[in-house]
Amino acid sequence: MPGFELFGDLERKEVNDVLDNGVLMRYGFDGMRNGHWKAKALETELQSTFQTSHVQLVSSGTAAVSVALASAGIGAGDEVIMPTFTFVASFEAIMMLGAIPVLVDIDETLTLDPKAVEAAITSKTKAVMIVQMCGSMGDLDALQAVCSKNNLLLVEDACQAIGGTYKGKPLGSIGDLGCFSFDFVKTITCGEGGAVITNNETYYVNADHYSDHGHDHIGSDRGAETHPFLGYNFRISELHAAVGLAQVKRLPEFIAIQKKHYTILRNALADIPEVSFRKVPEGGEESYAFLNFFLPDLETARKVTTAFKEYGIDACWNYFDNNWHYVRKWHHLKDAKSLYPLTSEIKASLSKLKTTEFSQSDAVIGRNISCLIKMSWTEGEVNERASKMAEAITSVI
Ligand SMILES: Cc1ncc(COP(=O)(O)O)c(C=O)c1O
Repeated sequence: MPGFELFGDLERKEVNDVLDNGVLMRYGFDGMRNGHWKAKALETELQSTFQTSHVQLVSSGTAAVSVALASAGIGAGDEVIMPTFTFVASFEAIMMLGAIPVLVDIDETLTLDPKAVEAAITSKTKAVMIVQMCGSMGDLDALQAVCSKNNLLLVEDACQAIGGTYKGKPLGSIGDLGCFSFDFVKTITCGEGGAVITNNETYYVNADHYSDHGHDHIGSDRGAETHPFLGYNFRISELHAAVGLAQVKRLPEFIAIQKKHYTILRNALADIPEVSFRKVPEGGEESYAFLNFFLPDLETARKVTTAFKEYGIDACWNYFDNNWHYVRKWHHLKDAKSLYPLTSEIKASLSKLKTTEFSQSDAVIGRNISCLIKMSWTEGEVNERASKMAEAITSVI
């Protein structure tokens, strides 16, 4: 992360193709395009990147989650299990469909604890959504087993983990549906954009129609298309897709740079006895978008976070104290602060969050520090950063 650091000639060429013919929309206008179909080309490219049968591009990662769930028929009153550590998009996307987010503890993988998932299943549970946070993954075998046993859908939010793999398969391609974001700070960026991937043809056709007002996309006269069911507008534009098309071709290069920088930083911290690293399940290969490590306790993690700032080390977070990614500070969610009325079921579920203890998650997130891996660093800068990080840590423990 992030792909915008390496924006260049390839991206400009793809965007200029679109600007030159003036067709900014992904559907229709066949005669004006001079053969340029950037969204379609990106979908084809992503099919091979993710080794998946179907890809539906959408307007964001948040849209990808809503479209994935809607495509599998999840809606009002259905419960979707999700982790306490994620981005706010997870519950937003669930609640947009009138479904109920059920938050459960994470473990040292930094995502869903399969035991906590199993304990949270009720007769209303329809899906488990794992969020592959900070470039790595949860115990996918265990989660798949829980889902199969209970006849639940497994949805993977791999927005932060593009390029990571589990037992040789790309993250996002393992569950029933996978979701990606190509927003400005993701490893591959379109500016704004996202994708739903699946091997299930029905879900794919549903995603294709649902993300474009329910259009069936049959024939070449948009006005004559029928609407087999209600939809919405979650379309990506050709301009955004053009940027992504250039970026996705560079994914192996981006992952290699991330891995190199991650390895230098990790090696510098590995000899500090008080530091341990995030658990990666056996058979898992991170995308190296972040380096995550644990300190003995919250107090030490806070001291190290302060020391990092003093040493000028940016882009490292202890999410226990941060408003973005952890349940502790999602007061707007717990207070159900919505511009419009929410269903009583959703309100009741959110209200429970005010009194639910997530002590296991607190213990994991409290000790964790998550450092973004930038691609634009020179080798000298990474080495200097690595020494400073080690020095900052040892100065406070
Ligand atoms: C894990 C996760 N899921 C979903 C999203 C939403 O993606 P977008 O910003 O494209 O809506 C993000 C964005 O940061 C994310 O980190």
